[in-house]
Amino acid sequence: MSSSPPGPKGEPLFGSSRRYARDPFRFLSACEQAYGDVVQFDMGPIETYLLTDPEDIEQVLVSEAGKFAKPEFQDDALGDLLGKGLLMSDGQTWRDQRQLANPAFAMGRLTDFADDIVTHSDELLVGWQDGDVVNVEQEMTDVTLAVIVDLMLDTDLSDDRVGTIREALEPLGARFEPDPVRFAAPEWVPMPGDSEYGQAIDTMEGVIDGIVEERRGSEGDPETDEGPDDLLSVLLRAQARGEQTDRQIRDEVMTMLLAGHDTTALTLTYTWYLLSQHPEMRRRVQAEVAEVVGDGRPGMASVREFDYIDRVIKEAMRLYPPVYTMFREPTEPVELGGYRVPEDGTLMLSQWAVHRSGRFWDRPDEFDPDRWARDRDRPNFAYFPFGGGPRHCIGKHLAKLEAKLILARTSQRYELEYTRESEPDLWPTLTMHPRDGMPMRVHER
Ligand code: HEM
Repeated sequence: MSSSPPGPKGEPLFGSSRRYARDPFRFLSACEQAYGDVVQFDMGPIETYLLTDPEDIEQVLVSEAGKFAKPEFQDDALGDLLGKGLLMSDGQTWRDQRQLANPAFAMGRLTDFADDIVTHSDELLVGWQDGDVVNVEQEMTDVTLAVIVDLMLDTDLSDDRVGTIREALEPLGARFEPDPVRFAAPEWVPMPGDSEYGQAIDTMEGVIDGIVEERRGSEGDPETDEGPDDLLSVLLRAQARGEQTDRQIRDEVMTMLLAGHDTTALTLTYTWYLLSQHPEMRRRVQAEVAEVVGDGRPGMASVREFDYIDRVIKEAMRLYPPVYTMFREPTEPVELGGYRVPEDGTLMLSQWAVHRSGRFWDRPDEFDPDRWARDRDRPNFAYFPFGGGPRHCIGKHLAKLEAKLILARTSQRYELEYTRESEPDLWPTLTMHPRDGMPMRVHER
């Protein structure tokens, strides 16, 4: 076993964090191309190991998942926001909560969702007029937020609350922009943006507390566990049985609210952009919708027939994975790709670097949905937009259903045209956003 993986040397104190912060996407791809499977660099004091070999990624997420936890450093700011909700918890707490939440995402329930998702799309489209330029990222955020609140919390958001959440999302995102000074400084050192972040959390908590209080009493019977099957009802029934604290409910609702809309909104945003740049593929999407649904209402049965749309969404998530990198920490020293990684090493599993690697993809930077029908022999974890193993995304099927239905419903009436000259500049926070939104002109068909 070699002792230390190759990687960029970095600078004193900062390591490679300043290079990373300048452009994480370029940095991750450059490391993958220059050094290959396992790349070691420092992010301030954090010893980081970038994994780009699908087999190593599978080892961490699936075959040896028990030896890896969510890293401590994520617990700081992210912990203040998401607490011990599903995304952040580990061990028995995670197992119990995941078991409780799973039925709310079951396939049978998804079938019932399809119609609600189409209704929410229609409500969005009421506000569009031929020739308008809209910020598609904002529009997709509004619709996916309405969907998640309806399906998981069984609540309708008033316009006021949507506006309040919208305003909180920006400072929440900004807190997770890579910042070399934050990497280097101890956590207690105050930084610009901290107070805005704290206020945004308070704002979100205010909205959540309001929703939880409104829903209390309508959750059904805790003893027989009969009642509505949305996640909040399930959690409230568990609380009535003494299995759930107020804080746990707040953490789960916050997690669902945030993890459950932004990523789907981004998938749609980048899909619209890519289709606008490839009119031939946009026509194929329109043709498929016309063939499967005509002028009718798309539903679960149509989604099963959307072969081309499936490829388009997959390919958009390959090129623009909303979660562009994930982190883990070994709970004991482990061997990965022939190297020994210490217990306190931080592992980076980067969708961005792997999804765009020439080692696994022909013409990796090209938008080519048909590649999903052609070449099938590639390693499993050369593509992992939803993570994998026991901690795979609980909302994966819902997100795919939602993206396809919103794409199809909107395509029946509108064509979207990107209005900037340049490619979208990418803004790295916890997820990958277009910087300054995604302006597009809507053309009625
Ligand atoms: C296209 C949309 C989505 C993408 C790309 C996405 C991506 C991911 C990824 C990569 C993970 C794994 C994180 C890790 O292992 O560190 C994850 C976990 C998770 N996602 Fe999603 N997600 C999407 C949609 C959703 C939706 C719609 C929901 C909720 C309704 C959701 C809720 C969650 C939760 C709760 C977890 C943590 C699961 C656990 O650890 O048990 N996600 N997601």
